[in-house]
Amino acid sequence: MPSNEFQTFLEQYPTFKQTESIDSLRKKDYARLDSAEHIYLDYTGGGIYAESQIKKHQKLLSENIFGNPHSTNPTSIAATHLVEGAREYILKFFNADPDEYLAIFTPNASGALKLVGESYPFANGRYLLTFDNHNSVNGIREFAHARGGDVTYIPVMLPDMRVDASQLNLELSKPSQNGHNLFAYPAQSNFSSVKHPLEWIELAHSHGWDVLLDAAAFVPTSKLDLSKVKPDFVPISFYKIFGYPTGLGALIARKSALAKLHRPWFAGGTITVASVQGDKYYLADGAPAFEDGTLDYLNIPAIEIGLKHIESIGYDVISERVKTLTGWLLDNLTAMKHSTGEPLVRLFGPKTTEDRGGAVTVNFYDKNGKAFDHRFIESEANKVNISLRTGCFCNPGAGEIALGISRVELDVCFTSPDHHDKMTIDDFRLCFDGKSTGAVRISVGMVTNFNDVQAVLSFARGLLS
Ligand SMILES: Cc1ncc(COP(=O)(O)O)c(C=O)c1O
Repeated sequence: MPSNEFQTFLEQYPTFKQTESIDSLRKKDYARLDSAEHIYLDYTGGGIYAESQIKKHQKLLSENIFGNPHSTNPTSIAATHLVEGAREYILKFFNADPDEYLAIFTPNASGALKLVGESYPFANGRYLLTFDNHNSVNGIREFAHARGGDVTYIPVMLPDMRVDASQLNLELSKPSQNGHNLFAYPAQSNFSSVKHPLEWIELAHSHGWDVLLDAAAFVPTSKLDLSKVKPDFVPISFYKIFGYPTGLGALIARKSALAKLHRPWFAGGTITVASVQGDKYYLADGAPAFEDGTLDYLNIPAIEIGLKHIESIGYDVISERVKTLTGWLLDNLTAMKHSTGEPLVRLFGPKTTEDRGGAVTVNFYDKNGKAFDHRFIESEANKVNISLRTGCFCNPGAGEIALGISRVELDVCFTSPDHHDKMTIDDFRLCFDGKSTGAVRISVGMVTNFNDVQAVLSFARGLLS
């Protein structure tokens, strides 16, 4: 018998019905979640793999012999065939024209970002990025600084944590005339789950910027169609989309933008010819120039298996699933109040499901309006087998804005003599004594069900007094 609450949910979010195939799939292919009684709500951290993906990959490995690719022996050819097949499949999956785009294998999204950062010609140019960015995008600023590029951040604004469009337009209209210009932003925030407009890509192009669209948090639940939008560099991590394998990502890059990059070194696999006495090397063409050493050729075939798995479910179904469950979670969590009338949570990000993904980031407060430490919330959630994530999620810019940590406070903290060249996270917390330095992220994903959301709501209700 469906519960009354489930009936109410269906009345409010009738399109959830269209995603019932995921409930059947979960019983069959993700049974371990329920048999081990896990409430997994950290999908922005990592996706969960289906048992069928593992079986298919294991079968492939146990029935074949694969050797190191790029030789002409039979086992090498077999591996090359699968690696190149996976590369083609990635482009097809994202609807990217192979004449226009390349897929470069990397260890993860951060590896893809580093490839861009270390090779982009920043001299006399500009690096423009939103406050709301993962540290692996922030880190590119160090390459820009080192090469004399100008670095500019565009803030996001509370409570929704969207970007101030007028500031963005102003900065985009001022590219450097003497160098190259790179604009970086996340298609979906890993902090607030805001989906930043994909229209910015063409806007930036029209002013002469190259665009790095960090799609790591977007593609697990939303379709990225590279025939409709044309960012220059797109970093992704595959484990975030379909859970397995870890250790593999890609940089999907436009060939024209790739031609501007200059790799700072060469390695095995990246050259056609390198000479010791001649002190000379020639980079290979295309993706291999960016793939250092031996590829992870035994795991790369699991990417194609994972992408096919997503296609068999369909992004329409996945997006609708995440949208409806996130809506219910947002409605109910933000409505909870203590007996004193104090709200239980403060939300960092959009209150409705419009232009947002499935991560709900909040801090919890007691009946007097005093924040619970995010680490306490995590330890309480651990006790009931709920996996959520706390901290700043490697997104300090969004964190500083959400938690009201000012530039002046940060300057005081960083310039204190004790903090000259070393700082632990505890030292950092001490600088902001009395303020929260982290939040709690509950992220709904592809195989989340109504019970998972009810479990976290019931956990939250337990904090009311
Ligand atoms: C938006 C975003 N970008 C980049 C990354 C980095 O991904 P990885 O740690 O797999 O390199 C993450 C990881 O959480 C992310 O959420």
